[in-house]
Amino acid sequence: MINAVELKTAKLPKLVTELPGPKAKEIVDQDAKYISPSYTRPYPLVIKRAKGAMIEDVDGNIFLDFNAGVAVCSTGHSHPQIVEAIKKQVEDFIHICAADYYYPQLPALAEKLSRLAPGDHEKRVHFGNSGAEAVEGAVKLAMYTTRRPKLIAFFGAFHGRTMGALSLTASKARQRFGFGAQALDVTHIPYANCYRCPYNLTPETCGAMESKGPHCARVIEDILFKTTVPADECAAIVLEVIQGEGGYIVPPASFLQTIREIADRNGVLVIADEVQSGMGRTGKMFASGHFDFTPDILTSAKGIASGLPLSATIARADVMNWHPGAHASTFGGNPVAIAASLATIELLEDHLIENAAKMGNYLLEGFRALMNKHAIIGDVRGKGLMIGIELVKDRVTKEPHPEALARFETECFKRGLVTLGCGVSTIRLSPPLVIDQSQCDFALKTIDEALSAAVR
Ligand SMILES: Cc1ncc(COP(=O)(O)O)c(C=O)c1O
Repeated sequence: MINAVELKTAKLPKLVTELPGPKAKEIVDQDAKYISPSYTRPYPLVIKRAKGAMIEDVDGNIFLDFNAGVAVCSTGHSHPQIVEAIKKQVEDFIHICAADYYYPQLPALAEKLSRLAPGDHEKRVHFGNSGAEAVEGAVKLAMYTTRRPKLIAFFGAFHGRTMGALSLTASKARQRFGFGAQALDVTHIPYANCYRCPYNLTPETCGAMESKGPHCARVIEDILFKTTVPADECAAIVLEVIQGEGGYIVPPASFLQTIREIADRNGVLVIADEVQSGMGRTGKMFASGHFDFTPDILTSAKGIASGLPLSATIARADVMNWHPGAHASTFGGNPVAIAASLATIELLEDHLIENAAKMGNYLLEGFRALMNKHAIIGDVRGKGLMIGIELVKDRVTKEPHPEALARFETECFKRGLVTLGCGVSTIRLSPPLVIDQSQCDFALKTIDEALSAAVR
């Protein structure tokens, strides 16, 4: 069994038992008995401790984490500055309820987020506890402000699983199955997926290179506003700036800019869901920054507080202008989570965003080189440390390869690398932003081996 100091200094995996080990097996069995079967675990990783980019399981095996608790632990697991900030706040006070009382941490973080979110205008912030809650807040705010009931969202989108957010989510049928009609009036249209253009167009033929903008954005004004979603009834267009759960899909800048223009022409708000793409992950504080894109409302969660539950709905000040009592939550903006968030932002601005951009470029180059060796790789895409590798049965037909993705995840696990899929058959790489080049090299080598094993 290793000790905590060894874990702290470990840089690469070390496996000492078969996987899963005996203790892991015991806990997986206990979990099956007591835990909701709605969770989807790809392989039996049972965690005891984690530091930086390394995870120790209950049997003493050490793994390299290329998932970060699904893009959450951006500053690395239990970063000393985050732990210190949490400890200090816990000593002072743990909870008082932001909806009813004041405390300095709230405006301090809101001021920082207002400065960091895209756009020079004044902003206001509402705090929640999860990504879904931030989305619920954004949608309520858009409906309240415009007094309009309808929303437009995109196929492949993931915005959460509460009933309102679930109405916007259109990633996988199993997320919707069994839950009846949509709680909200949402119309979905295809996202800007240039690798698999839903309209069989190319950037040269879809209008993306012209001032009119790409067809996939123009359908909002050309079709939806003229048929099922009259603009006067449309509160907001809700989108992920880079689609996450749907497959780590990076749209062209013209998609986002055209949507901005259409929204402005029609008095419709734009909600950018940056729950997964935000907080430095893409090599900029928010992914919107890569596209010169400014939404009216932006949602943030996941990486915002290094693993403590916190989310933010950040809106133009003139949009977030609702009456007292319109929206609030008991735990939202909890001071301990805010302390972690303030320390997170300090680390991101100090060096981690820069590291994400640097390591992201290094990995993207390495994965693109692997395309020469592995015909199963259909596409490599991403920004910073939000990288997707799409697996296909055939590069010409682009038929997805979900079976290979499932085998790949297990093959990586067996070699000590923690990864997770997304979309139909895309490998999602969202490591902590603290990773260094030796860890990237290990991931590249392991992914190379696991791809070979997955196609056998
Ligand atoms: C873009 C996006 N929005 C919203 C959510 C929901 O966040 P949570 O699981 O914290 O409710 C997620 C979660 O994966 C997400 O990726």
